[in-house]
Amino acid sequence: MGVSASVFFFLSIICNIHAEITACPPVIPITLDVVAQLGSDILLPCSFTTNQLRQAVKNNSAVIWLKEVEYIVEISMTGQSSFWQSHHIRFQTFQSSAAKGNFSLFLTNLNRNDVGKYYCKLYNGVDCVVGHTVCKLDLDKSLWQNRTFLIGLASGCGGLLLLIIIPFAVYAVSKRRQNQRRNQSTPQPNPYDTSSAKEEYEVYANDIYHWDH
Ligand SMILES: *[C@@H]1O[C@H](CO)[C@@H](O)[C@H](O)[C@H]1NC(C)=O
Ligand SMILES: *[C@@H]1O[C@H](CO)[C@@H](O)[C@H](O)[C@H]1NC(C)=O
Repeated sequence: MGVSASVFFFLSIICNIHAEITACPPVIPITLDVVAQLGSDILLPCSFTTNQLRQAVKNNSAVIWLKEVEYIVEISMTGQSSFWQSHHIRFQTFQSSAAKGNFSLFLTNLNRNDVGKYYCKLYNGVDCVVGHTVCKLDLDKSLWQNRTFLIGLASGCGGLLLLIIIPFAVYAVSKRRQNQRRNQSTPQPNPYDTSSAKEEYEVYANDIYHWDH
């Protein structure tokens, strides 16, 4: 009696496992990395194949989005969405896209608390997942890297420019000093400047005129 009961129990476990496997085979999640800048609006992509959609035949089949363990929205197979809590304020779904198997979620004004894993699960009935996408959302750190890179580039260019300019400046200053020194030692008359000579001649001519009368 005890033995046959335990054998029955054992068999029923095997049958249950077998039934579960055939009814709802485990799905391997597709993982996507989403990187965005603070304050930006982003799309968390989630699309299912026609094969997966064909498996979601029960009348209560739907797609559910979660952030870690927190429920965000349920999207029906016709694209109707119902949000948990106040998630409708920052999240958006696309009804016409969802009706075609694209259950992507739009998130506005990204902040630090949004970083994390988002799960998009296609349910066939309440307890069987037939499609699963994981979106790993992270902040775009390349902006910071770009900024440091740009600062480095700017200071590098500035330094290079100084290296080019300084020898020229030094050369120009020393050249000018040399010219000044030469002018001081041997002052040369400007051959084009005749104003002083002309004045002298006029004074001389006036004097002659006075002497005549
Ligand atoms: C969905 O189907 C189940 C049986 O599979 C039924 O009991 C239930 O009333 C149906 N729900 C709706 C909303 O049609
Ligand atoms: C899914 O729908 C969204 C919103 O309409 C669109 O931006 C996105 O490109 C679509 N993705 C695919 C793979 O079609």
